[in-house]
Amino acid sequence: MHQRSSYTPPDAGLTWLPELGYWTVEEPELCRAVLADDQFSSSTLTTSLGSFGRGKVEQDCPYLVDILSRWFVEMDPPEHTDERRMLQGHFSRGMLAKWESRIVEIVNEVLDGLPDEIDAVTEIAQPVSAQVIGLVMGLEDVDSDVLHGWSNDISRFLGAVYRTDYAVKAQWSVENMSRLIESQISSGQDNRLADIYQDCDIRQSVAAHTMVLFGGLETSARLIGQVIHASLSLPVNSPRHVDAIVEDSLRGFPPLKYVSRIAQSDVELQRQTIRAGDLVMVSLTGGRDVASPVLAFGMGRHFCLGMPLTMLETRILLSEFLRRFPAATIEDARARKDANQAYHGFESLPIRLGARSCA
Ligand code: HEM
Repeated sequence: MHQRSSYTPPDAGLTWLPELGYWTVEEPELCRAVLADDQFSSSTLTTSLGSFGRGKVEQDCPYLVDILSRWFVEMDPPEHTDERRMLQGHFSRGMLAKWESRIVEIVNEVLDGLPDEIDAVTEIAQPVSAQVIGLVMGLEDVDSDVLHGWSNDISRFLGAVYRTDYAVKAQWSVENMSRLIESQISSGQDNRLADIYQDCDIRQSVAAHTMVLFGGLETSARLIGQVIHASLSLPVNSPRHVDAIVEDSLRGFPPLKYVSRIAQSDVELQRQTIRAGDLVMVSLTGGRDVASPVLAFGMGRHFCLGMPLTMLETRILLSEFLRRFPAATIEDARARKDANQAYHGFESLPIRLGARSCA
């Protein structure tokens, strides 16, 4: 690794961490500048695995590395542009309008008949997100616990790519996801993405399916857990506050804490030089200034395709939750935050629902 000063001016928002060998970008305006700059590549997996995993993960878990490196969130143009274009129509406004009434039904089915004491992660956030992504992909019959078990294995690995034990579990889960998708495609079941990928190599199709499945499960469930926690932590909670609660949560606790990029050439930023090949971790914590855009869904060419879906599902769920359970309280002492370095969210969120609204 090349020599450089370990000194970074205070409040620079751009910091070189010599012991870890990467840059962090924290200040929201700088984060936007990096995300909008074509000199930064999104193809970071191999470099991250080389730096943190010392190549062991690639050796022990080749299937995992092959599938993740085919996720188009990992690609740059022109490959990224083509892959993204293929999927874009599936997340259009028209599709969202088509799914909305079923999303309302899913939310009602999940909230109907809940006992008084629940864990909002396993009994609300995970089943809602699993059934909504199931609707989008045509995987309605698959158990929420199974899907979230797989996505947890992948997120645990993405939060600590140096852990070969996590990589082994993540590979097992990606293999299971792939088997499910392949069997669905080959048996001609109602897979809603299969037509889009019918002319593609099966590996590429399976990779795209696993990316959408993981993206839909993991971040949405984390956001739902966070907004339930945030709403029950306010002195008064009401469905009228839903939009503000969701936005505040996305700004302060983005489900995905950061995205990574690699400089493709030397880049001058804040009087410092990010060298070609350097890894840069860009924070998605948007800052409290409501005039600046939320960063939780990224920015630029990789802006989250599932954002309108997630926002719709989260708003429907939170409005209905607050309407039905005006007296709900959170048992903060027993709530457990997830220790994952890459994601915000709760591992467990015990709630007492209390008296229910009759309306
Ligand atoms: C709270 C929920 C969500 C959050 C916070 C979130 C966050 C993000 C972020 C930050 C990116 C950009 C990554 C980068 O720039 O490297 C992204 C991309 C993406 N997200 Fe989401 N996401 C969410 C929900 C979803 C859902 C529900 C889906 C699918 C149903 C989805 C599908 C995607 C896809 C396909 C991309 C790749 C876009 C591209 O590379 O062009 N996301 N998401």
